Amino acid sequence: MNSRLQINPSRLLQRLEQLAQKGAQENGGVSRLALSDADKDGRDLFVTWLKELGLIVQVDQVGNIFGLRPGQENLPPVMFGSHLDTVRNGGRYDGAYGVLAALEVLQTLIEHEIQTRRPLVAVAFTNEEGARYVPDMLGSLAFVGDLSVEEAWAAKGFDGTQFGVELQRIGYAGSLSPGALCPHAYVELHVEQGPVLEQEGLTIGVVEHVTGIDWLEVTICGAANHAGTTPTELRRDAGLAAAKIIQYLRQIALDLGGNQRATCGILHFEPEIINVIPGKATLTVDLRNTEAEALQEAERRLRAFADRLMQDDHVEIEIRQLAYTRPESFAPQVTEVIAWSAQAMGYSYRHMVSGAGHDAQIMARKYPTAMIFIPSRDGVSHSPQEYSSPEDIEAGANVLLHTVLKLAEQ
Ligand code: GLV
Ligand code: MN
Ligand code: MN
Repeated sequence: MNSRLQINPSRLLQRLEQLAQKGAQENGGVSRLALSDADKDGRDLFVTWLKELGLIVQVDQVGNIFGLRPGQENLPPVMFGSHLDTVRNGGRYDGAYGVLAALEVLQTLIEHEIQTRRPLVAVAFTNEEGARYVPDMLGSLAFVGDLSVEEAWAAKGFDGTQFGVELQRIGYAGSLSPGALCPHAYVELHVEQGPVLEQEGLTIGVVEHVTGIDWLEVTICGAANHAGTTPTELRRDAGLAAAKIIQYLRQIALDLGGNQRATCGILHFEPEIINVIPGKATLTVDLRNTEAEALQEAERRLRAFADRLMQDDHVEIEIRQLAYTRPESFAPQVTEVIAWSAQAMGYSYRHMVSGAGHDAQIMARKYPTAMIFIPSRDGVSHSPQEYSSPEDIEAGANVLLHTVLKLAEQ
């Protein structure tokens, strides 16, 4: 191994800064929702950089972007990257780091005239966050064939838009069939988005397992009525029932313990008037667990609680699953290469699990896959305060570089 070969950290940091201007907010955060104008601007920048390097740029039918560098042999390529979309009011590193580090790895190899045996592909997947279109990880789901192009195009946005219409509008409805570039392996470099590496003073996380995610929409129907004249015992208060469900989500997390998480991220009341009892409440639930059975148990408990609430509070409750992503384990043959690369570069590391969802967990269904994490300051993510240090950003990209080099010789 040429362990002295290193990426150019200042170029990578500069590009992170430039990309962060696309969808930049005054508070330092980024809003680059999938297929928005800001996402188009970010994509355009990435494509410009890919073309400047002379890479073969392809876009598939769901807008996934690929930058390919041929290898010495026409074998399945090593693919690496992440996503360019962000949540609303998100950070600069989630997704962007993995995509730009992939670009940086390719540029480093080109500059050093290092030709790999296998072709290499930098990828930016579409709509990883799910903050605009459900399902999340949409681009990688289409890539592995678990979502058809028709289903993807029909996806409805939380803002009432349609995926296919917006994809065409921003000019990223490509012609390549998703999954046409069958990779030999997929590697995703990402910020941890949690506190573990920072707390333990370590530089690199070798991710072995990713949480499962269960997204539900709960609709509660009661009766809208006058806030002053309706006696307490006669109320059918959809708002109160929603509050009880949100409270119970915490109970589920506490009772199941371990890696169980339970969050209500969206809550709407109707008619939403100060002196009217809510007649309808709609809320979203995000349940996560690294164990599939426990995740199912969490959903079962929520449904049982809703059944009791219907009796006690005289409301109607409907629970609809929006998306489900099962927990996933990564390929030991890829995690071993990542650990070996970290060690060879002299970086401290540990094996760990991811509590965030990633395209890598979808890619792992079909291809040998694993992830590399670097520390997130204070474990903060999906926030303008998201931050990783220049030293860690450099280290992660170097581990990606040597992981890719090794995999490309297999
Ligand atoms: C994506 O970042 C998720 O974990 O929801
Ligand atoms: Mn991400
Ligand atoms: Mn994210």
